[in-house]
Amino acid sequence: MTHTPAITATGLFTPEQTITNAELVDAFNAYAELFNEEHAAAIAAGEIEAKEPSSEAFIVKASGIEQRHVIDKTGILDPRVMHPLLRQRSDDEPSLMAEMGVDAATKALAAAGRSADDVDLVICAASNMERAYPAIAVEIQNLLGISGFAFDMNVACSSATFGIQAAADMVRAGSVRAALVVNPEICSAHLEWRDRDCHFIFGDVATATLIESTDTATGAHFEILSTRCATAFSNNIRNNNGFLRRSRPDGMKDRRDMQFMQNGRKVFKEVVPMVSDHIADHIAANGVGADELKRLWLHQANKSMNDFIGRKVLGRTPEPDEQPNILQDYANTSSAGSIIAFSKYSDDLQEGDHGLICSFGAGYSVGSVLLRRHA
Ligand code: COA
Repeated sequence: MTHTPAITATGLFTPEQTITNAELVDAFNAYAELFNEEHAAAIAAGEIEAKEPSSEAFIVKASGIEQRHVIDKTGILDPRVMHPLLRQRSDDEPSLMAEMGVDAATKALAAAGRSADDVDLVICAASNMERAYPAIAVEIQNLLGISGFAFDMNVACSSATFGIQAAADMVRAGSVRAALVVNPEICSAHLEWRDRDCHFIFGDVATATLIESTDTATGAHFEILSTRCATAFSNNIRNNNGFLRRSRPDGMKDRRDMQFMQNGRKVFKEVVPMVSDHIADHIAANGVGADELKRLWLHQANKSMNDFIGRKVLGRTPEPDEQPNILQDYANTSSAGSIIAFSKYSDDLQEGDHGLICSFGAGYSVGSVLLRRHA
């Protein structure tokens, strides 16, 4: 017997600390001045390039981002540090990703009126894992007291939608009753805050999505009509950090390629058509017209990118409430972005309304989840 999967609740953990663009630009510019002073001779000799200052006006215009939440701002804003500073944790206490994930997952369970006993699967889906093993998902499972099984998966910014597809397929097949897809994203720790081209892009957050069968859903929920995932290899978003690092020549040096790198212009040009076509094909295959989509919850990387995709998919400029953005407050939170938008802007949908979650990013990867509201 097959089941019909549904999203019955979401949970959101938002770190308390925020960094405004003004604070960020001040810190970057202080760092750039220090760098230029310390390397004055090499710059004068033409051996290295001077660092150019960053600007608030550029950041808002190019991305739409106004601030970001982070786990630690002190290190990021210290021009002599330029990355988060986290306290050491013993192996006997929860890891940071597990702690963030448990907070979001607990909120999702409470919102659905569910307990750990109702869940058989935890997927921790994120763009970076703080350790190789044991899986963060198994630690979250243990902290929540869930039986069954858990595993980690990484599809960068598309991790949440790929995780939802995996969970929905298992609920449909009956191999699990309910699943939590948890997305703890500590993007601040793999962003290069010393690079003005990207230092404004990311923030930290955790989201959790509860997926169960419509047979057991008690309150209002979103039936998962269909999911669709696609990937196409690209080096335009890349991070070379990994377990082979110390084995490679110069692997342990302070290297630019050991943090997030991207060719932003190319990403923009290549990913926008890929995503627009993906969504159009996905809804058409399910007999849902663009005019029937009440809401698009898109990946939150760049406002203009979302404006383009929304226009292409709907065939007109979307109204702000049809395609809500949260990136002005959270920046790009990798896989969690579309789920934050969904969790904040979905309660008002009515019985029978359709909506679509879509994430996209490194890989390249794109994942979409077509939903129908049941009030
Ligand atoms: N402050 C001031 N100027 C800056 C700057 C900053 N922080 N960063 C870059 N600039 C400069 C550049 O050096 C460039 O100068 P030039 O014209 O003299 O060469 C100019 O501003 C334009 O830079 P560019 O990188 O072309 O800007 P952009 O309009 O493409 O915006 C992104 C940059 C990254 C915001 C944009 O390309 C983007 O969002 N791409 C998609 C990214 C994405 O979705 N990634 C997914 C990650 S998961």
